[in-house]
Amino acid sequence: MILVTGAAGFIGFHLVKKLVEYNHNVVAVDNINDFYDVNLKKNRLKLLGINADDRSFKNCINENIIFYKIDLLDSISLNKIFTKHKIDLVFHLASHAGVKYSTNIPKTYLNNNIIGFINLIDAVRNFNINKFIYASSSSLYPNNIDISELNENLNLNEFKSIYAASKKTNEIIANTYSKIYDFNSIGLRFFSVYGPMGRPDMSYFIFCDSIFKKKKIKLYNSGEIYRDFTYVDDVVDFLLNLINHKEDSKYAIYNVGNSKPVKILDILNKIEKITGLSAEKIMFKKNKEDNYATCAKLDRIKSEFNYNPKWDIDSGLHSFVSWYKDYYNV
Ligand SMILES: NC(=O)c1ccc[n+]([C@@H]2O[C@H](COP(=O)([O-])OP(=O)(O)OC[C@H]3O[C@@H](n4cnc5c(N)ncnc54)[C@H](O)[C@@H]3O)[C@@H](O)[C@H]2O)c1
Repeated sequence: MILVTGAAGFIGFHLVKKLVEYNHNVVAVDNINDFYDVNLKKNRLKLLGINADDRSFKNCINENIIFYKIDLLDSISLNKIFTKHKIDLVFHLASHAGVKYSTNIPKTYLNNNIIGFINLIDAVRNFNINKFIYASSSSLYPNNIDISELNENLNLNEFKSIYAASKKTNEIIANTYSKIYDFNSIGLRFFSVYGPMGRPDMSYFIFCDSIFKKKKIKLYNSGEIYRDFTYVDDVVDFLLNLINHKEDSKYAIYNVGNSKPVKILDILNKIEKITGLSAEKIMFKKNKEDNYATCAKLDRIKSEFNYNPKWDIDSGLHSFVSWYKDYYNV
């Protein structure tokens, strides 16, 4: 059985959907927090056949999935899941995401992203799970180096956000646990993952939403920021490859990106073109937590896996906008 945390979240939902399509049995976990629209989370679960409001635990019509609404901070409930189910592998995608908000509520980020992580990895140790795969982030990389050099071997000691610091802490704990307690840990530094059912706090979603709602759009650094957007299906296809992969070393970190940065202003222009609507823009200065540009160096993931992202930004945004129009009926 595969445990997926953050199953009501954007990437977790897409992963669980694909896992059951491939006939895996999944234990799905999420606390369905209100960091963003809870209905979107519940609707993702609904598409998986899960009724998030049913507290009887008979909440899933898909027999390959068992869903638990629990908080990773509740280690007693978490350990009960490991006692009840024979878990072979863990995908840990639950966390408080987003760099900017972490400045305002640092303790919330540190609790969820570090204490929650420790509770989970300690259960992995206790219940002798062989493989622990977890989400890290491209936000660990600093601003002051050439973006063509953003590789996993860089020595990273200084971070611009509490969120990034929490993710680096995860990597340190995972590397140390897997070495001492002899299991495989794999950390994935995701680069701006986007797509249908995506996160409403991310730029591409805000742009599309604001265009349809005729709201003004803030462009930080006047839109002169570059992001390496990675389509969610490319990420999930890679995650599936990890299930049966034989690791060479006890712990590993991979960049999971596209290596094709796009200017944020161009993302907005493309969405305007796809929707046929124009946006009202307000220019803002750059957020201090944001990097100027990101671009994944993919040498490691390409040499060890057959990783070759298929989606370009234009098809990815078309797919997103078409989902948005359908979902919000606009
Ligand atoms: N989407 C991206 O571009 C991106 C980029 C870099 C890293 N990541 C990381 O990838 C992972 C998945 O990201 P996402 O975009 O799907 O985020 P998301 O916010 O959509 O999903 C995370 C889910 O985790 C749940 N959660 C949070 N704290 C929890 C807790 N204590 N107990 C139980 N559930 C909890 C939330 O309710 C949410 O549904 C996260 O760890 C995120 O930090 C995402």
